[in-house]
Amino acid sequence: MEKLPEYSRNQLALRNGQDMDEIWVAFNGFIYDVSMSRLWRNGKHYEHWAGQDLTSELDKAPHNEMVFSKFTAIGILKK
Ligand code: HEM
Repeated sequence: MEKLPEYSRNQLALRNGQDMDEIWVAFNGFIYDVSMSRLWRNGKHYEHWAGQDLTSELDKAPHNEMVFSKFTAIGILKK
């Protein structure tokens, strides 16, 4: 498998749907590009913002992690 690029939290934070065109969300160590999702328009998803690691917020969602299955990870979140 091809190695995914690593991105820092600061790099992730810029992809919040406000500062740059790309909209990224980190979950379980991987970064997903949700730019194409209407549900993440402008980086906002209900009460959550993109550009962050939202792993610990999933238990507040009305869905499970299967919502990520249609997205391909584009990177790895640097520790
Ligand atoms: C108050 C919290 C949240 C609400 C009300 C909410 C609501 C929803 C709804 C209604 C959908 C539509 C599809 C479905 O239900 O399967 C959805 C999709 C999705 N949610 Fe959430 N969600 C919340 C939190 C989160 C969190 C914390 C994450 C990330 C860890 C997340 C990631 C996603 C993703 C990636 C999709 C798929 C988008 C798409 O298919 O275009 N959600 N959410």
